[in-house]
Amino acid sequence: MIPTAPGARPLVGHLPSFLKQPFAFLARLPEHGDVVRIRLGPKTAVVVCDPGLTRRVLVDDRTFDKGGLFLEREREWLGDSVATCTHGTHRHKRRLAQPAFHPRRIAGYADTMTTQIAAVVDGWHSGRILDVCPEMFTIASRVFGAAMFSSTLPAAALHRVIGDLTTTFDGTFHRTLLPDAVGRLPIPGTRRYHTANRRLRATMNGIIAERRASGVDNGDLLSALLAAHDRDSDARGDVSDAVVTFFVAGAETTSAALSWVLYSLARQPDIEARLHAEVDAVLAGRLPEYGDLERLPLASRIVTETLRLYPPAWFFTRRVTTAAGLGPYELPAGSTIALSPYVIQRRPDLFDAPDRFDPDRWLPERAVSSPDALLPFGGGARKCIGEAFGMTEVVLALAIIASRWRLATVPGVRVRPPLSVSLVPGGLRLRLVDRRSARD
Ligand code: HEM
Repeated sequence: MIPTAPGARPLVGHLPSFLKQPFAFLARLPEHGDVVRIRLGPKTAVVVCDPGLTRRVLVDDRTFDKGGLFLEREREWLGDSVATCTHGTHRHKRRLAQPAFHPRRIAGYADTMTTQIAAVVDGWHSGRILDVCPEMFTIASRVFGAAMFSSTLPAAALHRVIGDLTTTFDGTFHRTLLPDAVGRLPIPGTRRYHTANRRLRATMNGIIAERRASGVDNGDLLSALLAAHDRDSDARGDVSDAVVTFFVAGAETTSAALSWVLYSLARQPDIEARLHAEVDAVLAGRLPEYGDLERLPLASRIVTETLRLYPPAWFFTRRVTTAAGLGPYELPAGSTIALSPYVIQRRPDLFDAPDRFDPDRWLPERAVSSPDALLPFGGGARKCIGEAFGMTEVVLALAIIASRWRLATVPGVRVRPPLSVSLVPGGLRLRLVDRRSARD
């Protein structure tokens, strides 16, 4: 029988521990087995703590299909999109979305990313205390807006679209946690959510119709989506579902990764100093280009190590479609499986001193214990479609920030990751020190 994690209370199960300290609770689960049952109120999930078994679940996406805890609510909002659909339609939807993330196009988006990141960072001044998560979310939203629409939207329209995307994004997570009946009450939060969602869909329909009429490829994400979808799919809202999906899946994850990078560097000035030396040698004060990425290996290792310690997508679920074996256990159809990069990536038998931030563990000469031990972007057919996009954005942003700024910790600030879809360093504030004036 699958072992149940200790400490379950009558009725609520492990919910109190999970709500109070979700990350500490999860990190202890491997002590109880490679597959461990947890009870969250009336719902039960089987958490996979072993990297090989996690891979098996990810690769067999017919047996272990998308589903479980929050997915129904997400579908209500994102539609039947590439991220929320089940196995039956996934291959088709993925084929339509894939051209937008072709490596050639990512190289094209890099210039746009650099312009947007630099515009935000240029507005900083020395001594400012940066509220890191909202600031990084601004960077990610601006990058998303520019990569999706290039410069085809007037500033006011772009601002409105990003505002509506953000309102609906915030609303959805809260709605997934509320009971159905509460979610239908006409309270202000729900009204704001519906208004933003309706306006967003109407604006998107207008933008799509205009683009179709012009027939021009602007080299942006939207052009790639329109080229892959036929006009019939416009009426079903498939392209606008994809736009919303990319924002939901990409903006907070990327900004969370960048926030954790800054958090980690501020706490390890020795590594920060080595990064400064790298960006100064490679960029000498200019903005980075796509071709520079391979010449910034320490910056890339810092991002990889951050994604190991703080994987933004820390917990996601699958539903078992037909009775199946997993390791020594039989799982009946209908079971919910939870996968957690956070659990796997902090196992002491897979990583030396797993809680230590050590970018050099990713040096080619230092062997990594198992190829399945690092999975911040998931795996198998449902692996993140935006991996190269997200990595490019985070490394470029890090290089731009590190060229000019040092981030210092602020006494008394405590970081508390809230229980949310993404793992984010809630409350993080850092003080900006201009490296140029520090050198004078
Ligand atoms: C550091 C940044 C990112 C991280 C850590 C991340 C992580 C992930 C993970 C773990 C999954 C798989 C979830 C599962 O199997 O249930 C996923 C899927 C997905 N991601 Fe990302 N993501 C990032 C950035 C992005 C970006 C920038 C985009 C788009 C612009 C994006 C779009 C998607 C989509 C559409 C899916 C669903 C793929 C499918 O089911 O075929 N992600 N992401």
